Amino acid sequence: MAVRALWWSGDGLDLIDQRELPARTRIRHLRTLPQVAEAIRGMAVRGAPAIGAAAAYGMALAQRSRRMPPDRAARLLAATRPTARDLFVGIEVARAAWAAGGDALAAAEGYRRAIVEECHAIGRAGAPLLARKERVLTHCNAGALATVEWGTALAPIRVAHDEGRKLFVWVDETRPLLQGSRLTAWELAQERIPHAIIADNAAGYFMQRGEVDAIIVGADRIAANGDFANKIGTYEKAVLAREHGIPFYVAAPWSTFDPGTPRGDRIPVEERGPDEVLRLSGVATAPRRSRARNPAFDVTPHRFVRGFITPAGVLTSRQLGPALRAHARRAVDAPRRAAEQLT
Ligand code: MRU
Repeated sequence: MAVRALWWSGDGLDLIDQRELPARTRIRHLRTLPQVAEAIRGMAVRGAPAIGAAAAYGMALAQRSRRMPPDRAARLLAATRPTARDLFVGIEVARAAWAAGGDALAAAEGYRRAIVEECHAIGRAGAPLLARKERVLTHCNAGALATVEWGTALAPIRVAHDEGRKLFVWVDETRPLLQGSRLTAWELAQERIPHAIIADNAAGYFMQRGEVDAIIVGADRIAANGDFANKIGTYEKAVLAREHGIPFYVAAPWSTFDPGTPRGDRIPVEERGPDEVLRLSGVATAPRRSRARNPAFDVTPHRFVRGFITPAGVLTSRQLGPALRAHARRAVDAPRRAAEQLT
């Protein structure tokens, strides 16, 4: 596994600053909770499982500094980005350990390990779907950078590629912050997985021409009925996939499932600042007086999803129900068990 997004290093959290990729691989060393909160808000680290892990380490740093109680630390981190369910799970795993007199760092390490194992399992579960599906389209970055290692949407592609299967990946560039062209393409290039970057508005063209065999995306939050939030632009890809009879899959670890949110319209959608739309790499791409709207995510109804690729296999939205509630519990239990093994 070539890429790792973040890791604990001596007295703090090391992470790849994803804003600087692909031009530079700069590692940032974070020693305080406010530094971690700023890295999440400013998207030096992004992708739902990765920000969950970063937040758990942020809690560990707060515990070590002895400057604030666990609940205050949790509130500061929870205010960074509202949509990714994993953020709140990562915070809670570390907060619960700390509040019970335990070591938040061991909890964070356990959380990170559990995510990595789950993403590898997603890869093994999803790879058989690609047996005859050589041309896969993905949106945003749901790779190792977004999840610590392996990825969610990219994990089945990685596993199938490692098994020697012939694959080709269509990479949506993913405006406005270009997570597809800057990050997904960077990961695929490192592992020499054949791919091509396309403008977001070119996806329909290739689907219509019969050049897309399957679509796999990640998710930031999956409601109990299977509606899910993911990077803005995902919804339209799902609708187009239905029109063209292309199977559409969502890959996610348990920490992304939210049984407490019944339907997609209850998922909070982050709206970010207009400059991300009005400027590209700091250069204005619109008239000075123009305004912009910048929702970071959209919500796709479950009826567009052929299957959810989970660590326990591929589930349809009909199979989510009670099974999902049981598995989502593991989002908290699995890291706790891993932390216990470490202490
Ligand atoms: O705004 P971002 O870059 O954090 O959005 C990330 C996504 O939408 C990913 O697709 C999602 O978090 C899944 S990551 C495995």
